[in-house]
Amino acid sequence: MEVVIVADAAAGGQLIADAVAELITRKPDALFGVATGSTPLPVYEALAAKVAAGELDTSHLKVCQLDEYVGLPADHPESYHAVLKREVLEPLRVPDTNFLGPDGNAEDLPAACAAYEQQLTAAGGVDLQLLGIGTDGHIGFNEPISSLASRTRIKTLTERTRIDNARFFNGLPEVPHHVITQGIGTILQARHLVLLATGHAKAEAVAATIEGPVSSLIPASALQLHPHATVVIDEPAAQQLKLADYYRATYASKPTWQGI
Ligand code: F6R
Repeated sequence: MEVVIVADAAAGGQLIADAVAELITRKPDALFGVATGSTPLPVYEALAAKVAAGELDTSHLKVCQLDEYVGLPADHPESYHAVLKREVLEPLRVPDTNFLGPDGNAEDLPAACAAYEQQLTAAGGVDLQLLGIGTDGHIGFNEPISSLASRTRIKTLTERTRIDNARFFNGLPEVPHHVITQGIGTILQARHLVLLATGHAKAEAVAATIEGPVSSLIPASALQLHPHATVVIDEPAAQQLKLADYYRATYASKPTWQGI
């Protein structure tokens, strides 16, 4: 695992956007796995700036969704499909036909989960998966004690996650209880995992992810099992790390051509 401590969220967004741009330049039809929530926004903004400046051709890029609420009407502004259309597909000029996501309104949800796994495989697998982290250590919506081998399935959100996400809705009662999420086993199949965490509210989960034992209690700790996992954090999120100085020195002496 590589840990990169950056000055702030904008610097983290720029660093990751540069890595995604390098991927797209090398592989124009790459499959880019995206997360929702507040944390990844600086990445999408930095990528959109490159597209707007004509520096990046995203016309062949494929984008896939990490998770989705169950039962939100398709046109609800907080369905993750709607959020990603607004925050990723439109600003990055990715055609709708290049978007993959699970159907949170399917009559047969387990079949929709299985179908999504097949779609990801048929698309060649995820090249780079961007992740955020919940204050309880979740990735995607794999809440604590999710199987580290899990595949795309229905999960029940913890009360803590529902409270964390209530800011996007008109109060807690509106936040769905159920979601579809790529499993931890699914996420671990991506070729490169990049987790961005910013702010002191994430410091405890970040320390457990990087320096704690691999445990389903902290689903993000599964990144320790991945051969190419990068964790990008700002100073407040790095506050509880024991080896922060080591991570800083290692990254400072890394040749820039290596990227992340
Ligand atoms: C959502 C997702 C979640 C979020 C996490 C952090 O697609 O994957 O794991 O990344 O809940 O959310 P923010 O960034 O809003 O703190």
